Amino acid sequence: MDLTRRAFLAANGTALGVTLLPGDLLAAVQANTPPTPKLSDWNQVRRQFRLSPDYVHLSGFYIVSHPEPVRSAIEGFRKALDESPFLVVEQGMFESDSENLQHKVCADVAEYLGGRPEEIALTANTTTGLSLVYHGLPLKVGDEILTTTHDHFSHHETIRLATERNGASVRKIKLFDEAATASADQIVARIRGALRPQTRVLGITWVHSSSGIRLPVRQIADALKEVNGARAASDRVLLVLDGVHGIGVADEVIATMGCDFFCAGTHKWIFAPRGTGIVWATAENWARIKPLVPSFSSKEVYAAWSEGRLPRGPNTADRVSPGGFQAFEHQWAMGAAFRMHQKIGRARVAERIRSLNDQCKQGLASMAKVKQHTPRAAALSAGICCFEIEGKKPEDVVNQLLARKIIASSSPYAVSYVRLSAGLMNTPEDVDKALTAVRAVVGT
Ligand SMILES: Cc1ncc(COP(=O)(O)O)c(C=O)c1O
Repeated sequence: MDLTRRAFLAANGTALGVTLLPGDLLAAVQANTPPTPKLSDWNQVRRQFRLSPDYVHLSGFYIVSHPEPVRSAIEGFRKALDESPFLVVEQGMFESDSENLQHKVCADVAEYLGGRPEEIALTANTTTGLSLVYHGLPLKVGDEILTTTHDHFSHHETIRLATERNGASVRKIKLFDEAATASADQIVARIRGALRPQTRVLGITWVHSSSGIRLPVRQIADALKEVNGARAASDRVLLVLDGVHGIGVADEVIATMGCDFFCAGTHKWIFAPRGTGIVWATAENWARIKPLVPSFSSKEVYAAWSEGRLPRGPNTADRVSPGGFQAFEHQWAMGAAFRMHQKIGRARVAERIRSLNDQCKQGLASMAKVKQHTPRAAALSAGICCFEIEGKKPEDVVNQLLARKIIASSSPYAVSYVRLSAGLMNTPEDVDKALTAVRAVVGT
């Protein structure tokens, strides 16, 4: 593609008055992008979102409202793409490593995760990331995937589709009887007790969107490490984590948590553009994966194809990032969201979300007829509060809250609860309004 690009510039660049030479694209976008605003107080953070003031939005974890720095970044890339789609994609994707915009996104993501840019595959969402991992692992008849009854549709369905092809079996266990009274030790003990010699993958979810519980991932990973220590390398259990409701919420260095594959959409808590996500793994774990979708991000794969040979060397993260042209203005603007989180600070983010959701749980605890399903302890909860009101269906409660201008949701699982979720776009006053509305619904 280098040749095409050079030939094009030689033939047309000057005639078109093109100014987008290597190095210019990002600078041009940055010049047209307002500087990241101050985010030192929460009202300033709230003002970054264009959420309708007519409602109290307590379902931010569902899909993102783009904050100002992300809108500006998308707009900057969109403008450049609309002015010169060929040049901008050639330059942003295929020209040089130093100007490659996916590399720049991966660098911003890596900084947040505590990993390395080359350990990150870019995906469209959690579902795609999980699919790339489960379909890419060399599982076969006789191998087992151990997962839980609590995981999301996307995780269960990915495992079903992958095992239908590769012949591995799947077993689902309950990590607790009641999320609200679960303990970390009990969860770890159930996992340990359920592992079998043929278990090759443990697939779990960091923060459950069914009950709001946050799993003790580090303790689970430590237990697995011990089990794996007594196994041959080929019999190890790999830990696959659906991390979508933990990233952008918890004050954790994700790359050191102990999971082997971390899959997450970044269009929820992280505030990256809709239709973006990541998978993180170490080089050693990426080497285990067989890519599913041709990549446009790996020079080696392209060189091998053009030379009529197989790609050399082990598989890498960039060979797993699905290729084909993308909504590049969204993908390239991911970095702005990660930088925004870094600017606010991971610890501050986690503390704010903890405090708002504690306020919510405390208020719910004072109400007769309300049963909470999310643990009260901060270590076992995150940004989602799940509850039910005696005698009322969750969807009816959600509708009655909506009539009072509170946007709640019901969990899309076999057993459904009402969910209130406070994020960085919310204030303590929002939570108070929601609690007042819940009290009114209880009384109806
Ligand atoms: C736990 C969990 N995993 C996966 C998903 C699917 O996420 P995505 O839309 O990023 O694929 C959701 C959706 O909210 C979820 O709650």
